Amino acid sequence: MDWRTPQPQPIGIIDSGAGGDRLRRVLQSYLPQELFLSVSDKENFPYGNKSCGFLFARTAKQIERLRELDCKVIILGCGTLSALVFPEVQSLTRIPILDMITPVAKWLSLGSDVVGIIGTQNTIASEKWERQLQLKQGRFYTCACPELATAIERGVSGEQLRQVIRQQTLSLPKVDYLLLGCTHYPRAWADFKKVFSTTYLIDPALFLVAELGRTLKEVNYVLNRS
Ligand code: DGL
Repeated sequence: MDWRTPQPQPIGIIDSGAGGDRLRRVLQSYLPQELFLSVSDKENFPYGNKSCGFLFARTAKQIERLRELDCKVIILGCGTLSALVFPEVQSLTRIPILDMITPVAKWLSLGSDVVGIIGTQNTIASEKWERQLQLKQGRFYTCACPELATAIERGVSGEQLRQVIRQQTLSLPKVDYLLLGCTHYPRAWADFKKVFSTTYLIDPALFLVAELGRTLKEVNYVLNRS
């Protein structure tokens, strides 16, 4: 058996709400041989306005839950948790933990593009994106969208949702790429496309697929030997 031989242990995804379900479907479609579980903390949604201490405690609980379910890799499938409690939560477990920012930030670092990054109030206020991308050639503009994840979670759609997208992104200048820095946003991909018709949209989930593949190569190799 080599590293490609899948292992029955699942891969756990943590999010505050419906964003995690969409992420699970994306990852499952690229890695059909693996098993994905997503845990949502819907009673505490949204995470975008909660304190760092509270989010750390909630994440610790979810990590414990996923550890009990024998997960071999854990994904912080939430832009806000990735900005506020990663990498600190790595000290809670020996299970590898991946976040939503590092993989796509590595790719953005290679270019010299003008990129808009949108996310929750917490994500943008943390300045995590700026820190990950400092000293790079591109120009980056961030914009907090405090009401957007809640609108998507509640199922607002069509023109009403597009109005929220327009209003929440008003402060952004013209950009080449728009990075959807909250896991809820790609659920509204078609509406973003209508509002930003001449801009490339970036879904961090696609960059996570590559990072996850690399991690699984090591994890499955070790599990297959033991
Ligand atoms: N999925 C969360 C994120 O990526 C949604 C926002 C929230 O809970 O406020 O940030």
